[in-house]
Amino acid sequence: MAVLLGEQQILLGATTFRTKFPEPRYDMDSVLQGGIDACMSGAAGYILTLGVVEGARGRGLAQALLRKTIEAIQAQLPQLKAIWVHVISYNHPAISLYERMGLQLVRRFPRFYNFHDQVWDSFLYVLYEKGGRPPENLALELLKEEVFAMITSLNSPQALRQRCKVWFCWCRKRKLSKA
Ligand SMILES: CC(C)(COP(=O)(O)OP(=O)(O)OC[C@H]1O[C@@H](n2cnc3c(N)ncnc32)[C@H](O)[C@@H]1OP(=O)(O)O)[C@@H](O)C(=O)NCCC(=O)NCCS
Repeated sequence: MAVLLGEQQILLGATTFRTKFPEPRYDMDSVLQGGIDACMSGAAGYILTLGVVEGARGRGLAQALLRKTIEAIQAQLPQLKAIWVHVISYNHPAISLYERMGLQLVRRFPRFYNFHDQVWDSFLYVLYEKGGRPPENLALELLKEEVFAMITSLNSPQALRQRCKVWFCWCRKRKLSKA
């Protein structure tokens, strides 16, 4: 979906979305109850791209674009139970947008992006509808992952400190997101 301006049809923003996947993705287990099978069956859709050109930002275009995209998806794919998207942890405009639009912060993927020699976490946000909900065992799986990461960082005080800091920030973010 795109936002175009004027007769010359200048592109101001666009979203892309998919529900068909040639093979399972690493994150499908975390998106929807039923995990990979549910996502591969078309019960969930993934927002690949959402962007607004720099000069047109901060005017509600992304919000309008995302709302239209969701409405179009709901009209065309009434069986859909979840729409998911990834966002880099420092992207406050996008995070703010997703939270305002009712997407739920489901999990963090640690060290997901690598830009300019720096690693960043990804947040997985999901919009649930038609009774869709996160996988029931997700909280337990995440706890196991965190405990494992803690154990592996025990021999390095610096890594352990970093781990605790990330964990604290994440818990705080979850609390704020639920408030
Ligand atoms: C994220 C992006 C799509 C937002 O587009 P936009 O048209 O400026 O967004 P909107 O005007 O609809 O505002 C959305 C929210 O971001 C906030 N926002 C906008 N610009 C901001 C800024 N510079 N800093 C912090 N927050 C900002 C708005 O206040 C709004 O928050 P609210 O809903 O709590 O009021 C745009 O910044 C962009 O294209 N970024 C580059 C691509 C990108 O990061 N895409 C997301 C990938 S996950």
